[in-house]
Amino acid sequence: MADAAAVRGPGLDVAKARGNFPPLAEEARPGVPLRYFDSAATALKPSTVIESVRECMAEYPANVHRGLHVLSERATEAFEGARARIALFLGVDDPAQVIFTRGTTEAINLVARSWGKMALRPGDAIVVSELEHHANLVPWQMIAAETGAVLRYVALNDDLEYDLDSFDRLFDDGRVRMVATTGMSNVSGVRPPIEEIVRRARDRGARVLIDAAQSLAHERLDVARMGVDFAAFSGHKVFGPTGVGVLYGKRELLEAMEPVLGGGNMVLRVERDRAVWNELPDKFEAGTPPIAEVIGLGAAIEYIESLDADAVARHERTLIDHAHARLREVEGFRLLGPWGTAGKGPIVGFTMDGTHPHDLSHLLDRYGIAIRAGHHCAMPLHARLGIPASARASFALYNTTEEIDLLAEALGSIKTMLRRR
Ligand SMILES: Cc1ncc(COP(=O)(O)O)c(C=O)c1O
Repeated sequence: MADAAAVRGPGLDVAKARGNFPPLAEEARPGVPLRYFDSAATALKPSTVIESVRECMAEYPANVHRGLHVLSERATEAFEGARARIALFLGVDDPAQVIFTRGTTEAINLVARSWGKMALRPGDAIVVSELEHHANLVPWQMIAAETGAVLRYVALNDDLEYDLDSFDRLFDDGRVRMVATTGMSNVSGVRPPIEEIVRRARDRGARVLIDAAQSLAHERLDVARMGVDFAAFSGHKVFGPTGVGVLYGKRELLEAMEPVLGGGNMVLRVERDRAVWNELPDKFEAGTPPIAEVIGLGAAIEYIESLDADAVARHERTLIDHAHARLREVEGFRLLGPWGTAGKGPIVGFTMDGTHPHDLSHLLDRYGIAIRAGHHCAMPLHARLGIPASARASFALYNTTEEIDLLAEALGSIKTMLRRR
């Protein structure tokens, strides 16, 4: 098994941690080192994750559950081991409450389709916010159209934070059945007060789904302690492979829900005209699962657990504080969201006066700097801000303040260059 303890121990040795991520040793182009500020789109993968996927492919590339031979047993053991590890990471005793999906998008679609069909009636309400990624909006719009339910939006203040008084008022008529909220905005890094939202929603009898796609790389989510009903995340944003994600659900809900996909593995018995569903988690895992990806995700969670979480949080706070301080000085820089960094994730959404975000990202690429530009699958948020697109620099534990200095300098140079034209 790959050595997962490469940076284990108290504190965070950033230089050593960087050594675990192969692309950071590469040049973006000859003579230009890579500066990776796109971890919110997909995080880099540590060597232990790469090795675990290679090991599975090379040494036990067999199907899980069905085989009765040694390779299948090894694959099954590693696959179910990953599920057990992820369950513990989420504070869940029962691994059967961890359903593997292709990612956050598929996990939320599963809840919207299955739970939504079961629970929503005409006039019922689903609470969302303009902070949501399309993955936590469109599935709800689709099931609302099908069931006659409606979407209600939490009001945001000027700092793009939830207005909790308006949140409370959404429940006045007793029709809210679901609150589906992001754990961290992928555009501004704003973290809604999840614990408070869960408490208030549950007091009023609503279910809560947390889209933890962005938050989980930066903070633990103890779903059982918090009492959330559903949570979803993607492997590739937590240093794991693409093509795999997780849906956590409360057992009584998952048991009551109908599967969305039919096929192999999700059935106990099939007759000519009917079938009997399998137990959890298989009921929701039709067909051959992404085996190597699940095993890689298990290694990614092991990697996160091997780190000193407080030291990582401190480092990420230093990065975001430093980014705000340096970027504030750049002429024409406009931050999306609050300048205060308390409670904010390491994501900087911004625009630059007179420069389209796409042009900006192309120009930064010449400096070896990778950022994201576009609407970031958050069109309602951009519509509220009155802009078609924005730029985003997002950081992870392997970034440094020196790299952020280079970003600020490159933005300053680009501004000067464009002014001269
Ligand atoms: C907050 C949030 N939710 C959901 C998603 C969708 O994740 P995936 O494309 O991995 O399903 C993303 C991806 O950027 C995201 O940032």
